[in-house]
Amino acid sequence: MARSLSGTYRTALVTGAGSGLGEAFARMLAAEGVRVWGSSRPKTLASGAGRIPPGVAAVALDLADPKGAQEAFARAQAEAGGCFDLVVNNAGYGVFGEFAAADFGSWEADLAATLLTAAGIAHSAYRAMRARDRGTLVNVSSLAAEFPLPYMSGYNVAKAGLSALSASLAFESRQGAVKVIDFRPGDYRTAFNETMKTRSTSFSSTLSGELGAAWRVLERNMAAAPHPSRAASDLRRALLRGRSGVVRSGSLFQARLAPALARIAPAWLVRAAAARYFGAR
Ligand SMILES: NC(=O)c1ccc[n+]([C@@H]2O[C@H](COP(=O)([O-])OP(=O)(O)OC[C@H]3O[C@@H](n4cnc5c(N)ncnc54)[C@H](OP(=O)(O)O)[C@@H]3O)[C@@H](O)[C@H]2O)c1
Repeated sequence: MARSLSGTYRTALVTGAGSGLGEAFARMLAAEGVRVWGSSRPKTLASGAGRIPPGVAAVALDLADPKGAQEAFARAQAEAGGCFDLVVNNAGYGVFGEFAAADFGSWEADLAATLLTAAGIAHSAYRAMRARDRGTLVNVSSLAAEFPLPYMSGYNVAKAGLSALSASLAFESRQGAVKVIDFRPGDYRTAFNETMKTRSTSFSSTLSGELGAAWRVLERNMAAAPHPSRAASDLRRALLRGRSGVVRSGSLFQARLAPALARIAPAWLVRAAAARYFGAR
């Protein structure tokens, strides 16, 4: 008989459940019979623009407001009985542009939201799980943690940081029952690039040179990328396996071949291949 996640997880929170990967994760978990809470930003919920799936309890949470995000998490956690069995720390966004041209205050604020507030949610979730010696924390990082994306320095730092956090927690909890999964998606067809355009002050539809070439590759990859339901299937499989560790998810090339080749190729060759892949001369 096929196993169901509800045998292990009665409650789950998915951040960023109103769109893309988070929406697919929340749908998958609800379909498995798990009681799911899903977050969107307060302004998205107020405008009715988000797509928190039916049957999922909406939580208003903005990564740009660390204190408010902690309070929203604590309220949802109390509703769930004091500890979620599963937290999928998924909400996030990217910014496109040259580091040298960025306003450092904005760069820092984006990093604070996407790494530090996300780490704060991980801390609250993980601490409650450790106290009960039960539960699974999934930090949604990115293959960008191992193959940095062009002109997305803040995003690359945030995802490398989240992956390092997952590795640290997996080590600290290795003797107990709490599991920590570093989930690294490759490209998936979501609103990610559209959101990135609106968040990038230097973005223009007429980007030229290497910046323009890199943007066109990001757009082309996004258009050809798999549907988020595939990431949800990969997450489901990882949760059924019930082990801590890194889970790569995406196309055969991005999630399997490139990481395997990068393990055996010299670093200079990996860097040169990545530059070529992103259209640099
Ligand atoms: N798509 C990809 O190719 C890809 C690849 C690797 C990793 N990822 C990661 O996967 C996660 C989900 O991205 P996605 O592709 O599904 O993008 P998406 O469709 O744009 O969804 C992003 C979600 O994050 C939420 N979010 C964005 N900014 C937020 C903020 N300041 N505070 C709280 N929530 C915020 C959004 O909330 P609203 O509902 O309010 O808009 C939305 O629900 C991100 O962490 C992303 O870095 C994506």
